[in-house]
Amino acid sequence: MAQVVLENIYKSFPLRQGEQEKVPNSVVAESVSPEAPGSTSNSVLRRINLTVEDGEFMVLVGPSGCGKSTLLRSIAGLEVLTAGNIWVGDRLVNDLPPKDRDIAMVFQNYALYPHLTVYDNLAFGLRRSQKEEGRGKKEEGRRKKEEGRGKKEEGRRKREEETETETETEKISKIQAEKIKNQVKEVINYLASNTVNKERIYTLGEDFLVGATRKLPPGLRYLSEREKAVGKRVLKVAQLLQIEPLLNRLPKQLSGGQKQRVALGRAMARNPEVFLMDEPLSNLDAKLRAETRSQIVQLQRQLGTTTIYVTHDQTEAMTMGDRIAIMNGGQLQQVAQPLELYNKPANLFVAEFIGSPPMNFFPVQFTAPLLISHPQFRFTLPDIWAKNLQQYDGRGLILGIRPEHLSIHPPATKNLSVQVEVVEALGHETYLRVCLTDAPAVRMQVRVPPERSIRVGEELWLAIAHDKIHLFDPDTEMAIFPR
Ligand SMILES: Nc1ncnc2c1ncn2[C@@H]1O[C@H](COP(=O)(O)OP(=O)(O)OP(=O)(O)O)[C@@H](O)[C@H]1O
Ligand SMILES: [Mg+2]
Repeated sequence: MAQVVLENIYKSFPLRQGEQEKVPNSVVAESVSPEAPGSTSNSVLRRINLTVEDGEFMVLVGPSGCGKSTLLRSIAGLEVLTAGNIWVGDRLVNDLPPKDRDIAMVFQNYALYPHLTVYDNLAFGLRRSQKEEGRGKKEEGRRKKEEGRGKKEEGRRKREEETETETETEKISKIQAEKIKNQVKEVINYLASNTVNKERIYTLGEDFLVGATRKLPPGLRYLSEREKAVGKRVLKVAQLLQIEPLLNRLPKQLSGGQKQRVALGRAMARNPEVFLMDEPLSNLDAKLRAETRSQIVQLQRQLGTTTIYVTHDQTEAMTMGDRIAIMNGGQLQQVAQPLELYNKPANLFVAEFIGSPPMNFFPVQFTAPLLISHPQFRFTLPDIWAKNLQQYDGRGLILGIRPEHLSIHPPATKNLSVQVEVVEALGHETYLRVCLTDAPAVRMQVRVPPERSIRVGEELWLAIAHDKIHLFDPDTEMAIFPR
């Protein structure tokens, strides 16, 4: 197990002809990549600094295209950095090939070895982890190609299910026969050499027996000590991911969700120093997703393996991570524990990104000592704001209020008069989309208890929970905190 440290990571891809580099507003100017304006490359990661502690579950979230996969692939060694350092434990891994980094990655598009059973898919990584990861990019390319063949193959399978099974078996037997032949050759060559020692012969003999019986049903296989250890680990992972009853099936006999869990299990069984997971649950239905989510967390806690998990699903981020790193435009916006992100978002982007439905924002005017005013409402802030708001006297601010911090109240000047436009009753709670009665263009979302029946067109007064508001500097978009 190891700490992962990312130091000043930059990554650029060459721009295609006619493409222009896009820099989102929320990217702070000083941290834009070192390349000159008009450069011919597109910077995808811009000065990323992040420490993932030993055994920590770090979730990486951000909108599509913000650079999450690129960062993960860089850590795995599948992308070459433009600048920066990556440390795994006390090893600087920048120049190490993927196989030497002791990192296992689960890709968004999982791929299993179609001719191996679930058991052997799980054991594969354990037996041959070095070779497997080492193939890196080549391997991924091959997997994609294999997936592409998928649909075509499925049609063919349906037509010739029986013949197909035979062909498959024949193919496996051929591979197996070839392997056995090579192993026997190796033993003979070794015996013919002058440096015969008993231990070596024993190992070669054992390897031969393991290989020769591997395709037999589990009870009939020869198990070396190493193979027994592999078996124990496979079983542990299979039990945790609830795929134990599937161990003797081939991938084509599994549902999508089961396949995905086998792919996860394969990475986990290897017990690497670091797990990288790129949206591994994206192909699952909601129920299975929730189940697998808690299984992954449970397994990670047991194994204690440092994990970086990419998702753009907020619920996953909030429920799985020890900490969450939020990215936008190739830059880290905030790294914090889930509730800290919700309670104290560092800037407008994080405030809007975390929370569902998202936070409502209003441009307001601030007058010292503590008055917030909007054309349709005004209220006084508690004293704890006085110090940090001094410099904003007479200036504009952005006020943020979460939908759950607005509630239905009697009319008052500090409250908002609104008209209901949409009612979304989810059963356990109800979301309202409303507009201000005197300014219908100003819209917001409100979360109300499900017992209150509300009609579209109804007029309501909403009270703001003043101790839950958020304020942002409109120029820098950074949060202003009380005290
Ligand atoms: N090989 C490449 N060549 C050029 N541009 C690339 C390459 N790979 C990724 N990009 C660009 O880098 C940016 C980040 O891509 P990346 O795949 O890391 O995003 P992501 O955050 O994983 O998005 P998603 O949530 O959609 O998976 C995108 O704008 C993408 O177009
Ligand atoms: Mg991605």
